[in-house]
Amino acid sequence: MKSLATFELLFGKNSPKQMIPKIALLAIFAVLIFVATPISYPFFRNSSSISLKNNLSKNPASAFDALDQSTSLPSTDIKECDIFSGEWVPNPKAPYYSNSTCWAIHEHQNCMKYGRPDSEFMKWRWKPNGCELPMFNPFQFLEIVRGKSMAFVGDSVGRNQMQSMICLLSRVEWPIDASYTSDENFKRWHYPSYNFTMAIFTTPFLVKAKATNSDGPTKSGLFNVYLDEVDDKWITQIQDFNYVILNGGHWLMRPMIFYQKQNITGCHFCQIPNIKDLNMYHGYRQAFKTAFKAINNLENFKGLTILRTFAPSHFENGLWNQGGDCKRTKPFRSSEAQMEGVNLEFYMIQLEEFKIAEREAKKKGKKLRLLDTTQAMWLRPDGHPSRYGHWPQENVTLYNDCVHWCLPGPIDTWSDFLLEMLKMEGRRSAGERVHLEAN
Ligand SMILES: *[C@@H]1O[C@H](CO)[C@@H](O)[C@H](O)[C@H]1NC(C)=O
Ligand SMILES: *[C@@H]1O[C@H](CO)[C@@H](O)[C@H](O)[C@H]1NC(C)=O
Ligand SMILES: *[C@@H]1O[C@H](CO)[C@@H](O)[C@H](O)[C@H]1NC(C)=O
Ligand SMILES: *[C@@H]1O[C@H](CO)[C@@H](O)[C@H](O)[C@H]1NC(C)=O
Ligand SMILES: *[C@@H]1O[C@H](CO)[C@@H](O)[C@H](O)[C@H]1NC(C)=O
Repeated sequence: MKSLATFELLFGKNSPKQMIPKIALLAIFAVLIFVATPISYPFFRNSSSISLKNNLSKNPASAFDALDQSTSLPSTDIKECDIFSGEWVPNPKAPYYSNSTCWAIHEHQNCMKYGRPDSEFMKWRWKPNGCELPMFNPFQFLEIVRGKSMAFVGDSVGRNQMQSMICLLSRVEWPIDASYTSDENFKRWHYPSYNFTMAIFTTPFLVKAKATNSDGPTKSGLFNVYLDEVDDKWITQIQDFNYVILNGGHWLMRPMIFYQKQNITGCHFCQIPNIKDLNMYHGYRQAFKTAFKAINNLENFKGLTILRTFAPSHFENGLWNQGGDCKRTKPFRSSEAQMEGVNLEFYMIQLEEFKIAEREAKKKGKKLRLLDTTQAMWLRPDGHPSRYGHWPQENVTLYNDCVHWCLPGPIDTWSDFLLEMLKMEGRRSAGERVHLEAN
């Protein structure tokens, strides 16, 4: 639905672009660039967040061919293998759905509809170093989640993942809309034959937040963000879910005023005298800390919590509002592109907070796992809608979308990861049962 503007992710529903004179936007961001230095220095330095080790232009797809050992082997050795580190290799059989077979593709991620000329970006699969990652098997997945429920908690990239999964599962069954409200931000889908429920809880900051000014210093909104108070729009709802997939990050780059114990503690680029400018990393770290704490303290929650790590954006040759774009048509190889700047920092902070939370979770008998998609997605500058998320004449805030992912596209791989993780989880608990019985 149009009303659920994809671009709300970065810029909020309250600030349609029509209201913002272009010149003002540019001027404001020019200011932002200087003020943001040196904290965000690597990000803004080259007007590009991509650093290349080698020269990319001489890497035809054939370079990948040697890696392609195609057929999916049973993954018995998966325990010793890190499925999240590897390479993208060609997969001529992909994609497994299209915009004509799947209605669940979000308007702004329906890249083929809006004339994306190339389709090679759909034809890759992830090959972990040292093992195989089987392609998503929707029958197997639905069997595993029979009678269970899964919540996606976070921003519109989480929705992007859920919609990809609906498309992949559609080979077996379509879900019925079982939403409790008409609010698109809180959708609930039910698979009748499997009694499986999927729900999305849109909570882009994870903690409580309120827009105080729809413009703010960058015209992308100014938010009060209550860093020590979890957003009860999701925390009060997830108790009975078997799986909770947590994600977030992009919104915490906006101008924000930070609160703790109901008092202002500082801000990120709020431009208000007498409020200390802390950086966005502070807010980002605290938000995840609070979210993890809330889950760990949720008495009756027995589910599996999965952190889906930060999904990098790929603006090149400019910032999002300065003509930055993502025009590549092939993945990087891991030796070619190194993560840096904001993307790397966000990822590292998540890993640190995850480790802290994991220790706490273990003490409380709770299960916390990592869906570590960052590295794989970092290598996919070719997977974003770019300008094919809307008609050319349409006014949208994020003209070149280098944040979300085209469907079909590389985000489909997250389901491959997820299924593999659930299988591992099954082996783990079987192992525990055997262990208990042996004692
Ligand atoms: C990369 O390749 C292009 C075209 O082949 C060439 O013009 C450029 O000088 C190369 N850059 C580096 C750093 O090797
Ligand atoms: C699907 O994409 C094609 C172009 O490949 C386009 O012509 C068509 O309108 C799209 N259909 C839908 C339902 O989005
Ligand atoms: C369906 O699953 C839910 C848990 O998600 C359970 O409470 C309910 O009893 C199940 N219904 C049937 C008919 O099995
Ligand atoms: C909030 O700040 C005020 C003044 O700065 C202080 O008096 C008050 O104790 C603070 N409240 C809390 C809960 O920390
Ligand atoms: C888009 O914005 C431009 C100028 O900002 C305006 O002239 C044009 O009418 C707008 N188009 C639509 C479809 O709203």
